[in-house]
Amino acid sequence: MTKKIALISGDGIGPEVTKQGMKVLEKLEEISDVDLEFEEFPFGAEHYLDTGELVTDEAKEELENFDAIYLGAVGDPRVKPGVLEHGILLDLRFSFDQYINLRPVKLLDSRFSPLKDKEPQDIDMMIVRENTEGLYAGVGGFLKEGTKDEVATQEMINTYKGVERVTRYAYEYAQKRNDEKKLTLCDKSNVLTYAHDLWQRVFEEVGANYKDVTMDHMLVDAITMKMVRNPEDFDTIVTCNMFGDIITDLGAEIQGGMGLAVSGNINPEGVSMFEPVHGSAPDIAGENIANPLAAILAAGMMVKELGWEEEGEKIETAVQRSLQNDYSTPDMGGNLNTDEVGDHICSILE
Ligand code: NAD
Ligand code: IPM
Ligand code: MN
Repeated sequence: MTKKIALISGDGIGPEVTKQGMKVLEKLEEISDVDLEFEEFPFGAEHYLDTGELVTDEAKEELENFDAIYLGAVGDPRVKPGVLEHGILLDLRFSFDQYINLRPVKLLDSRFSPLKDKEPQDIDMMIVRENTEGLYAGVGGFLKEGTKDEVATQEMINTYKGVERVTRYAYEYAQKRNDEKKLTLCDKSNVLTYAHDLWQRVFEEVGANYKDVTMDHMLVDAITMKMVRNPEDFDTIVTCNMFGDIITDLGAEIQGGMGLAVSGNINPEGVSMFEPVHGSAPDIAGENIANPLAAILAAGMMVKELGWEEEGEKIETAVQRSLQNDYSTPDMGGNLNTDEVGDHICSILE
């Protein structure tokens, strides 16, 4: 059955990398049962500067009819930081209640990790990031703004419902992911004695239903240390929105860089959105040197989540092969441009 995909290529390198992802998806359609229909939406800096519009209510109503959203990245130096990020990216994550952010950290080829002596089997974990609450909820404000007595607050919102549903998803994930069946809760319960006390209680409570999953706990500062020193200790990690943001950039680097890191914003009953972890990279935009592999892998994750498990797997295998062949962009030591890497992935699929 045809699945409808909304394409939001966005800003900076966003359109450059999603173009390659689209090419790969079209090739996959040619060689398999995958059947997709695309419609492009213009949201991003250019559209905002032209019209003053971010994502309108009408557009959101329309997006409800899609099976998934494929996003490049948003953010532009001409627009105040936060406007596009909140008005487009976070608005979509929140409006479609994409409460899970799945971010795999997987080393595809040992040559690309900056960590010494680490092999693919050592760096292979799934980070399950809460995606609609925490410090991202947008609650806070200024008191005595602009004075020397100013106080700025940003509250961390943690609801039982929000913590329970992402924790349950993470247990389910850990149970199915591999034989290790281990779930680590990453928090800061020694300081955030309200917010992360709730996380600890829910972690225990939900865990009672998953007796075959080993429960583990680590403070976020210790996790950053351990992800570098002993990444092999991690299997599935569940964490709050802000910590998930930070530790997945670290995860991206240990698996070979931002050019390879993938992100799925999931609503198991609704419209999910797939994107690279990286941003619009204004420093390299327009040069045709951005690494398209994260966007291509995000397309693979989308195909898998839409039910074509094996076909999505094919994209991952093709990416792995192209890395082994050193067909990569300069950020990974290669000498191909963005288009050429996309073409190469298509030729491997062929
Ligand atoms: P960034 O991820 O855009 O770039 C960080 C560094 O990594 C830059 O040096 C960039 O050149 C490099 N890089 C990133 N992706 C790359 C790729 N595919 N290939 C090669 N090099 C790559 O992060 P930033 O500079 O902090 O943010 C730039 C803008 O993007 C900001 O406006 C930010 O808010 C936004 N942003 C958006 C998203 C998103 O839409 N999902 C995510 C992160 C940042
Ligand atoms: C990410 C990004 C976003 C986040 C920003 C751009 C709002 O950094 O997807 O990791 O913090 O979630
Ligand atoms: Mn981030």
